[in-house]
Amino acid sequence: MKTTLSFSNPAEISAECLAVAVVDEGEGQQTKAKILTSNPAISAAAAELTASGELTGKLFETVLLHAPRGMKAKRLLFVGGGKAKNFSAYELRKVAGTAARLLKSKGIRGFAFVAPAGWSGNADQAAHSTHVAERHGPAEAVKAVVEGVYVGDFDPDTYRSDRKDQSLQEFAVIAAANGDQKAIEHAFEEARIIGESQNFTRGLVNEPGNRMTPTTLARRAREMCEQVKSPNLKCEILDGDAIRQMKMGAFWSVAQGSDEPPALIVMRYDPPGAPAKPVIGLVGKGITFDSGGISIKPADGMEKMKYDMAGGAAMIGAMRAIALLQPKVKVIGIVCATENMPSGKAQKPGDVQIAMSGKSIEIINTDAEGRLVLADGLHYARQLGCTHLIDAATLTGACVVALGYVNAGVFANDEETYQRFAKALTESGEKMWRLPVDEEYREIIRSSIADIMNSGGRWGGAVTAAMFLKEFVDSTPWIHLDIAGVAWMEDTKPWIAKGPTGVAVRSLVEFVRGFEKN
Ligand code: BES
Ligand code: MN
Ligand code: ZN
Repeated sequence: MKTTLSFSNPAEISAECLAVAVVDEGEGQQTKAKILTSNPAISAAAAELTASGELTGKLFETVLLHAPRGMKAKRLLFVGGGKAKNFSAYELRKVAGTAARLLKSKGIRGFAFVAPAGWSGNADQAAHSTHVAERHGPAEAVKAVVEGVYVGDFDPDTYRSDRKDQSLQEFAVIAAANGDQKAIEHAFEEARIIGESQNFTRGLVNEPGNRMTPTTLARRAREMCEQVKSPNLKCEILDGDAIRQMKMGAFWSVAQGSDEPPALIVMRYDPPGAPAKPVIGLVGKGITFDSGGISIKPADGMEKMKYDMAGGAAMIGAMRAIALLQPKVKVIGIVCATENMPSGKAQKPGDVQIAMSGKSIEIINTDAEGRLVLADGLHYARQLGCTHLIDAATLTGACVVALGYVNAGVFANDEETYQRFAKALTESGEKMWRLPVDEEYREIIRSSIADIMNSGGRWGGAVTAAMFLKEFVDSTPWIHLDIAGVAWMEDTKPWIAKGPTGVAVRSLVEFVRGFEKN
């Protein structure tokens, strides 16, 4: 997609379609559409539609006009953003994504979106009905629109022989000419990099297990590191022999059951001029297929376990964005990639494994494999000098039971680091909800034969999985993201296709950039 930023008068843009956001300023049941632009030609074109009640501003409502008077664009599209008082960058991203998907479905492969102007007036009301409150302003608007269009542009139908490539060819975001031009240009550039990186991650997650083995994932990570052409980003791939030599007994215990060789992917971003500390470690679960192993999963829905590498893919996408955005912060990305398979060589319930840290683990359930590979990944990150750790993993079904498909689970062992991450969430607009890691949960995973067990059973399953990881980060400030429920969209929405979401990429990038600011 060729993406451009324009400060022109929207009426003068000769695009296939011009899209604009509409909100509902009505009270209660009454609707009252307000077009989010001060452009007189657009307002005039909308006047009859609002008067007739056909345009209300309801969330995701779309109205398409042909040959709008006084405008060079061939069409004018209004997209509803919902109640005005709730409207923030979070809704705007989805509104922009909705425009992209609606036009794509009609074979219209280029459009321009008029970024809302004058919505900074809503700043106080942006303390939104949910915990995702975001700042408002022309630069934030441009960023949200561009990110939203990238999200909307992605389609997962790669292997359909009747696939019509509907991806957008051209997209322009039109910003108000009276804003801070430099800040808007920056926001635009950032959003383009972040949007592309999120879609890069989605492309990796979308691949089926036979086409995305640990070896393939490692190759894709290496190719990405070469393609960003940054002297500050280096990629190293360690194989099964190296994993065993380094005594990564927890990681290897999962890998040993598969005929596909595992891979430990290490990406180092080391920009000149960065202070020695902090060093941020991004550690991802890269299970390219999770059958459950000997504790095999039921057949129903097992095909979905190809996305069990979504946490690892998020780290690869985040490293891409970081290398391109060039914050002066050291970052190390680690992905523990392997399949989890049953075989004559597979580990068995009851086995005891020694992790790289020296801790002994009693295997209760071979399907609790994510925490095993991450245990060694987190320990290795500390050994490489990481001062702060963040991991992302499709770790537990229990997290999906707790938070459904809306919020990811966040766990943290350090208040200050959690606050930093919470700030990153307000910038990224990704929904995550904090869950506890109280010491009382620790005894649930105590083993009678070894230091810990890899499963604490059913109750509090997302928490006991986090407690397991906590054993391997020691006192290093750490954030754990359980993205099991949000890494895959179960249904198509107006603003996003069914399939991989690329969740966590945007928050990881904002988290890292936060360390540059202070
Ligand atoms: N990859 C799964 C978790 C998962 C479930 C991801 C649903 C996405 C959607 C993980 O490896 C797993 O199997 N976890 C077990 C842990 C249990 C055996 C302690 C689970 O959640 O059932
Ligand atoms: Mn599993
Ligand atoms: Zn898994």
